[in-house]
Amino acid sequence: MHDPAVLRSLHRDRFNAEPGIFVAPGRVNLIGEHTDYAEGFVMPAAIDFATLAGISPRTDGKIVVYSENYGAEAVFEASALPQAASKHWSDYPMGVVSILAGEGNAIPAFSLSLWGDVPLGSGLSSSAALEVVTALAVTSLIGVSYPGPVLARLCQRAENEFVGANCGIMDQFISANGAKDHALLLDCRDLSFKLAPIPADVALVIANTMVKHSVAGGEYTSRRAQVEEACAVIASHRPGVTFLRDATVEDLKLWGGEMSPNALKRARHVITENTRTVAAAEALICNNMAELGRLMAEAHVSYSQDFEASCVEADAMVALAQDLPGLIGARLTGGGFGGCTINLVERAHAAEFAEALAGRYADQIGIVPQIHICHASGGAHRLS
Ligand code: GLA
Repeated sequence: MHDPAVLRSLHRDRFNAEPGIFVAPGRVNLIGEHTDYAEGFVMPAAIDFATLAGISPRTDGKIVVYSENYGAEAVFEASALPQAASKHWSDYPMGVVSILAGEGNAIPAFSLSLWGDVPLGSGLSSSAALEVVTALAVTSLIGVSYPGPVLARLCQRAENEFVGANCGIMDQFISANGAKDHALLLDCRDLSFKLAPIPADVALVIANTMVKHSVAGGEYTSRRAQVEEACAVIASHRPGVTFLRDATVEDLKLWGGEMSPNALKRARHVITENTRTVAAAEALICNNMAELGRLMAEAHVSYSQDFEASCVEADAMVALAQDLPGLIGARLTGGGFGGCTINLVERAHAAEFAEALAGRYADQIGIVPQIHICHASGGAHRLS
């Protein structure tokens, strides 16, 4: 239903009003994991899974949000916006509305319909897509326009301050600012970025392990704390270091002994990952696919062994891809502990690659995975 006509007719039938239609994509991260909140580098691409929103004004003072995915409606008063999350799907759109209100925007009554095909809970940023599409729809309704990077920051704040998830900027940034057929190297310190073209003969093959270990949320927070612990040790010797972005492998040799063993390993991942991510962007820009694949392989080992954010299923999905025809590079993508792997594959081999990988994974793990052959897509925009 990427066809806006379907959402338009759904919105018309439900709300008896003509909607403006907007879209925001999910994402896959090619490399640069758990580096965003250390003010480092990430290189994601927006993908052709997305969330669509239809919006129209109301005259009864209410905000009515309908999710086609949940088949449910949530109703609020525009003059009394919720102040806190209620552990409900509507926290994501209403978190954005609340942040927009906090920025001094008068929030009118409106009807919002939402539909998306970003697989939920699989590390492809369905929540960022939902936040960004809501922000775009609501700002457009009220006649305000934020530059993409600012919109992304507001959506990240909705997730941090309202929903209560301590994520970095990567997911919202790429959903708002992605470019068709490109990956985006983002400097999470100043939000400057560089586009790296993905060659037409390279496919993004996303392999869903179909598992998300229940530890994921808590482990994300504890990894972040360990990264901060390591940074504080280095900063006590080198006050110029405010985030691990500023630290080097040399710093770890000098002061790693003052950290807990886990903090040292997490820091080694983040520091080496930043270097790999910048090098990977260079390799992609120079069309050096062999080097890009090598860096992705190294990144997976670091993510699995030093950051300990992988799992049996994701390690198997990466290992089983290694000798399949057409593979350029494979690694676990996203926050970790399950979700999806990203495989860069020569497009001519993508279909047979997907089929073979699915068969091998099902045989070894006993779960039938979902494998998607994706394109890098554009960032959030108005459809009509
Ligand atoms: C999640 C977070 C991002 C980022 C990744 C790990 O997707 O939302 O901000 O930290 O994990 O790279």
